Amino acid sequence: MQITVSVNGEQHTREVEPRLLLVHFLRDALGLTGTHWGCDTSNCGTCVVLMDGEPAKSCTVLAATATGYEITTVEGLQRDGVLDPVQQGFHEEHGLQCGFCTSGMMLTARALLDRNPDPTDREIREAISGQICRCTGYAMIVRSIRWAARAQAEGPTEDGSHPAAD
Ligand code: FES
Ligand code: FES
Repeated sequence: MQITVSVNGEQHTREVEPRLLLVHFLRDALGLTGTHWGCDTSNCGTCVVLMDGEPAKSCTVLAATATGYEITTVEGLQRDGVLDPVQQGFHEEHGLQCGFCTSGMMLTARALLDRNPDPTDREIREAISGQICRCTGYAMIVRSIRWAARAQAEGPTEDGSHPAAD
């Protein structure tokens, strides 16, 4: 079947098997390998993308049912070469080690900060509770998202980047 899916603001039309999962459509058909595939049992959350701004585990979604949604992957977080505050926060606060969970974590963080720009640590932990990180112990991820919330509140500098927020 032929499907057209909007990903990071661009329309992509492909012939696919009706059973193709969105995670494989993104990775294999579009080459957007920033979306990771970890468990295929809907447990790990490394495959999270945004569907109309809401986090979704792309291993649980058929590519065909993604038509009509705006899909955002980690490749779509930056704008014109300027990192999203969430990306910068993970850099500043060392929110990753191996990086396998990171794209999903950052997308969930983006959705959280869009609906709640000043989350508590508890709200951050609840937001990422469906995602597993085997490396960091989560504390640095929470700090990274808190950094992003502060940077977002302060707004970008003239060059579009976000200043370090203590
Ligand atoms: Fe989707 Fe693990 S690969 S939840
Ligand atoms: Fe390795 Fe999270 S940084 S799984």
